[in-house]
Amino acid sequence: MSAGRVQGRVALITGAAQGIGAATVRRFAAEGATVIAADIDDDAGTALAAELRARDLPVHYRHLDIASEAEWIAATAWATATFGGLDILVNNAGIALVKPIADTTLEEFRRVQRINVEGVFLGIKHGAAAMRERARRHPAGGAIVNLSSVLGMRGLPDNIAYGTSKGAVRQMTKCAAIEFAERGDNIRVNSVHPAITATPMVAAELEEWSASATLGTTDVSATRSAFAARLPLKRLGTPEDIAAMVLFVASDECAFTTGAEFAADGGRLAA
Ligand SMILES: NC(=O)c1ccc[n+]([C@@H]2O[C@H](COP(=O)([O-])OP(=O)(O)OC[C@H]3O[C@@H](n4cnc5c(N)ncnc54)[C@H](O)[C@@H]3O)[C@@H](O)[C@H]2O)c1
Repeated sequence: MSAGRVQGRVALITGAAQGIGAATVRRFAAEGATVIAADIDDDAGTALAAELRARDLPVHYRHLDIASEAEWIAATAWATATFGGLDILVNNAGIALVKPIADTTLEEFRRVQRINVEGVFLGIKHGAAAMRERARRHPAGGAIVNLSSVLGMRGLPDNIAYGTSKGAVRQMTKCAAIEFAERGDNIRVNSVHPAITATPMVAAELEEWSASATLGTTDVSATRSAFAARLPLKRLGTPEDIAAMVLFVASDECAFTTGAEFAADGGRLAA
């Protein structure tokens, strides 16, 4: 059997219980990684890990609210005690908010930044600390992959809180990439920018976009078709499309790249 693309690497993936995170857990485990699947949805996360462990894949579920610094410290300490640290961190967990500016409360705006921005900052900070030792010893070092969005690069109505947070993820990626490179940490940091992808998050958003007629219709299936039609490839992404991009960026195949943006967007950013 040939070695997997992340063979022998220890990867922590946040927001791992469903959607893009769960697809990434499955792909990384299939490609030889030891995976720490972290989420706040303990039932779904435990079930995913149990399913994969039953197939002899080393996947461990860990409760981790990314907005809690204490939980990051505990999770990375556990990873260091159990596996000797991390090689890969995928900062995938995030929340959406579909609301016009006039209806977005300050508390709602702050909640999105607390999870999507502060959660990723804490991940970069504590994840990198758990990586440095192993990164010095591995020729390709460590890798952090942050899930931004096409909405971190372009606007969409009714998305001020979410778009702001994803723009911040894009910029945090570049700041961390350059700082770690200049310190000689041997830790790469890159961002992945999906366009609309068929996950539970988007199923909920389609309802909200329809309710607010963001794309000029209140019908959910017409809203979905309208989003697909805006993408040059004329379909929504799948969680597996995005997991494949995350895998490439995290793997040693991408060893010469840091601070970069990877679109997995059906052509959206080119159009
Ligand atoms: N689906 C898309 O169209 C799309 C497009 C661009 C970017 N993204 C980004 O990709 C990432 C994953 O999106 P998805 O569509 O799979 O989302 P999803 O809502 O389907 O899954 C997100 C997961 O994150 C978990 N989570 C939420 N808050 C958390 C917290 N505080 N701590 C830990 N876990 C938490 C949830 O329990 C859930 O399991 C997000 O960062 C999202 O912004 C998604």
